[in-house]
Amino acid sequence: MNKKMTITSIKKAKGEKPLVMVTSYDALFAKLLAPYSDMILVGDSLNMSFAGKRDTLSTTLEQMIYHTSAVCQGAQNSFIICDMPFGTYTNKEDALKNAIKVFQETSADSIKIEGGEDKADIISYLCSNGVAVCGHIGLLPQAVRGEGGYKVKGKTEEEKLQLIKDARAVENAGAFCMVIEGVKAEVAAEVASCVSVPVIGIGAGKDVDGQVLVFSDMLGLFEEFTPKFVKKYMDGASLVKEAMLNYSNDVKTKEFPKEEHTY
Ligand code: KIV
Repeated sequence: MNKKMTITSIKKAKGEKPLVMVTSYDALFAKLLAPYSDMILVGDSLNMSFAGKRDTLSTTLEQMIYHTSAVCQGAQNSFIICDMPFGTYTNKEDALKNAIKVFQETSADSIKIEGGEDKADIISYLCSNGVAVCGHIGLLPQAVRGEGGYKVKGKTEEEKLQLIKDARAVENAGAFCMVIEGVKAEVAAEVASCVSVPVIGIGAGKDVDGQVLVFSDMLGLFEEFTPKFVKKYMDGASLVKEAMLNYSNDVKTKEFPKEEHTY
């Protein structure tokens, strides 16, 4: 069994080994994925890949707590991060009240919030009240409607400088690591080199401190679309369909159940 990561060992990994993060939304998959990952993120991406919604914005705190509890149950030896949903951390007081609810109702180790310099005071308030925070900079999925789409960041000098400011502000506020999403690879690498906490990339190239992927993308289970940055490690959708077709045919032809499946 892998040793459970801690904030200290996660921070120490920077420059020593790339960190592996993956999302999970239930106990079943959490148990399967846990032995091969350093951190499990219960991402609000569950609203799309689990609940079938068009973006993450309608995720509720109650849903995040429900799924995080399930993941904690399935991966009891893993460092688990619960994503704070849209609208639950717009000011310091709400952020702390909602983070406390997550900590009291699940055994998550940390929460994650989207935003850079603009969220530094909130991150700092959370950290000074005993809440471990993972930041999230670059492309912010919760800003999709505000920005009119998912926009890759770091394309101009101005954007690069802002990303560096964001990363430094998130680190100085006390975050123990941060996700960087949808950023030009060379810019993400520069951002990662400007801070001393691990910067975990998604769609941000290889020269960062680790990678995170949404498990249903990585396992080829989510068919609606595949972002450019996703590598499918199996064709899960085809495997599931083939298995279901075989089961359906077996039932119709009475090939199943056989003697060995019968009491
Ligand atoms: O919600 C999520 O799964 C995330 C990852 C894309 C990093 O935030």
